[in-house]
Amino acid sequence: MKIGIVGVGMVGSSAAYAMALQGIAQELVLVDYNKELAAAQAEDISHAVPFVSTTVVRAGDYADLAGAGVVIIAAGVSQKPGESRLDLLSRNAEVFRIVVSRILDVAPDVILLIASNPVDIMTDIATRISGLPPSRVIGSGTILDTARFRSLLARHLAISPQSVHGYVLGEHGDSEVLAWSCACVGSVPLMSFAKQIGKPLTDAVRAEIDDGVRRAAARIIGGKGSTYYGIGAGLARIAKAIARDQRDILSVSSVTEDIAGVSKVAASVPRVIGAGGIMMDLIPELNVEESASLHHSAAMLKALAASVPL
Ligand code: LAC
Repeated sequence: MKIGIVGVGMVGSSAAYAMALQGIAQELVLVDYNKELAAAQAEDISHAVPFVSTTVVRAGDYADLAGAGVVIIAAGVSQKPGESRLDLLSRNAEVFRIVVSRILDVAPDVILLIASNPVDIMTDIATRISGLPPSRVIGSGTILDTARFRSLLARHLAISPQSVHGYVLGEHGDSEVLAWSCACVGSVPLMSFAKQIGKPLTDAVRAEIDDGVRRAAARIIGGKGSTYYGIGAGLARIAKAIARDQRDILSVSSVTEDIAGVSKVAASVPRVIGAGGIMMDLIPELNVEESASLHHSAAMLKALAASVPL
């Protein structure tokens, strides 16, 4: 499969690097308004390939995206210390009005994978501009938050993150919902498993994990200016599920008929991802508090998306 990446700053290039190392695509095409940057990123990543894969990595223009199965959009501005993801909305909406149309002009059958923040709103905007069915416009959403949630739980329980099945839902942002009530370890409900092994998830532990997930980006941005390795790997994970038709269940964003009573809103729930993009939405069974929080998160996203004229 040919995969394009439009916007090859730190997030886009990290996604390209992660895909090259895993040999997810036969060809990666890097596009950026800064052609010198795209050429340098492509050449640098291509020097990693001989160690691990046979992926062809090259810089190109929009025309070179013709035939791409997936195009990742990581173009736009990213958060600066003290900025929220929502602060980026107007600037990135302007960028999308140009980028999305230029991609669709050359790759009308593409699956768009949105990384630019605020990713849920940008996913809604890309869906409206592209005219693609929602199943083919996927935002990275809470795939990274879910990974953060699982890794912190795994650390507390001293088990592999791959054996923790828990999801973060709703906005990729401050209103996101950690779905504690339906998390499990192996086939054992999370709270029961934690008690069984003598590592109970007390209110204090849960508060610490919640903060560890919800404020991860702010901490990292405060320390190094931006985040990119985690989201780069998350984007590669979604691209792999599409390229290999894996039908994995991933928490990603897409315009969804109904989330917690909010209609036609882009937010994250677990979904089956395969060659066709989103193949099925899985609405988890939540407790009353989680359902109310998810409704609040989705309603906030719906109102914000409606405020962006195209
Ligand atoms: C983060 C960025 C990708 O959460 O929003 O690291």
